[in-house]
Amino acid sequence: MKLLNKSEILSALSKHPIGRGTEATTYDAGRYVVRVPHTVKIDKAFRENLSNDTYNYQKVDNIHGRRNFGQPLYNLTDPKSGAVMLSVCKKVDGITTNDLVEEPLTTKQKSDAMAVAIEKMRIMASAPQKSYRRLVDDLNHLAGTNFTIDPCEGNMLINPTTGRFYIIDLRPVKNIRNVGDLILLLLTDIPDMPDNAEYFELEQKIVNKLMRAAQSCGLSVPEQLKLKPRALEVIKSEAARQLYKNNYQNIALHTHTK
Ligand SMILES: Nc1ncnc2c1ncn2[C@@H]1O[C@H](COP(=O)(O)OP(=O)(O)OP(=O)(O)O)[C@@H](O)[C@H]1O
Ligand SMILES: [Mg+2]
Repeated sequence: MKLLNKSEILSALSKHPIGRGTEATTYDAGRYVVRVPHTVKIDKAFRENLSNDTYNYQKVDNIHGRRNFGQPLYNLTDPKSGAVMLSVCKKVDGITTNDLVEEPLTTKQKSDAMAVAIEKMRIMASAPQKSYRRLVDDLNHLAGTNFTIDPCEGNMLINPTTGRFYIIDLRPVKNIRNVGDLILLLLTDIPDMPDNAEYFELEQKIVNKLMRAAQSCGLSVPEQLKLKPRALEVIKSEAARQLYKNNYQNIALHTHTK
């Protein structure tokens, strides 16, 4: 079952993209998104091939059930090379939890980036505890798959209305990630964050909720407990760092198998 017809795909590609990363550009297509790798040029030949059904339809196995990682549902591939020309993916309604900041920043850019980061952290800090439990549950689910998190900016979204987190942009590699990687997805990495009392307070709230969730859910495999120094580098306040360090060792491992 193709979820979008070719005119819906063409119409999505004619609009302004909703996101652009290092690997692909993503377009809004109503209930879904269309993701086009940067290696593919959206030119006349591409549009014609799409209209003439030249590309092969390839359904992607559903291994995530009803979870939403913005994962591809099907790909259109080039019949000759087998290369993926585009993917139709689950859509996530939300805003990125953190954004890439590229130095050097002017004073104005830095204060704008900080204001945005703080606003996003207010939303994350007030997200219900249940959202954090779902996030840890997603981490547990991924440990049992051949997919891994890419803990970089833009790879987690939050729905500001529901407070629900969505990890996106999974990598098809078996590489077990830990709660520290969730911290890298949650917290901004603005360098030399100036002393900001609210920032520190929000960071503490977020780390606290995440730690509580990890303790109440437990983790499914020991690798998820491995500490990465990078996560501690990203945490700016001493209080949040202590919270992480003190609770990290207390996170239980699942004793039962699902
Ligand atoms: N399924 C989706 N639903 C909603 N927005 C999406 C979806 N996929 C991507 N986006 C938007 O597009 C942006 C870039 O997407 P994505 O991270 O998948 O691209 P990428 O090129 O793989 O990025 P990276 O630079 O991490 O390799 C995201 O930060 C997000 O804003
Ligand atoms: Mg990305």
